[in-house]
Amino acid sequence: MAQINPSMLSADFSRLAEEARAVEGADWLHIDVMDNHFVPNLTLGLPVVESLRKATDIPLDCHLMIEDPDRWAPAYAEAGAGSVTFHAEAAAAPVRLARELRAKGARASMALKPATPIEPYEDLLPELDMLLVMTVEPGFGGQAFLDIMLPKIRRTRRLIERHGLSLWLQVDGGVSAETIERCAEAGADVFVAGSAVYGAQDPAAAVRALRERAER
Ligand code: DX5
Ligand code: ZN
Repeated sequence: MAQINPSMLSADFSRLAEEARAVEGADWLHIDVMDNHFVPNLTLGLPVVESLRKATDIPLDCHLMIEDPDRWAPAYAEAGAGSVTFHAEAAAAPVRLARELRAKGARASMALKPATPIEPYEDLLPELDMLLVMTVEPGFGGQAFLDIMLPKIRRTRRLIERHGLSLWLQVDGGVSAETIERCAEAGADVFVAGSAVYGAQDPAAAVRALRERAER
């Protein structure tokens, strides 16, 4: 079963609660936290996540594109995020951090930038509930999907199967009606889409169309 997670990065930041309700039928709301250090862009942080948590029932999938997630990520679990994703490139102690997130009741997830291979992290997979393979360089919405990431998605799916694990495999960046089938075919099962959802006339219809294509 495919999960579709609209990214609020492409939503209207002055109306976040309404924009959350505009994607009825989505599985999770993807919240991109950027600190202007790990990526060259600045978005939102804990207070906004806390407010959104109160304003909507849809579970929050927080993608932390920040330095020092070891220090900051657990607070997002405490703020009510159902899933917290930290970047492998930024985490000093990913095993300890993943265990801390799980202990706080969140799903623990780790993201890989395009140039970061999965293989060094093979032994960490049992500590994770989700692995995010970035299909653009993180930092901005609306970028073109990187086809060169498809082999990494395939290799990651094979590792998950080889170890008999059930963690989810998420893709984020350039996911659209044109690219989602390739991602699904390669083995992804959780799809983040920003501009393809919030750039559409009817965001809820865009979610349904993406799901239909992913499950085709
Ligand atoms: C980019 C973010 C994405 C972004 C995706 O660094 O992690 O979640 O919102 O946007 P689209 O779907 O437009 O590529
Ligand atoms: Zn993201």
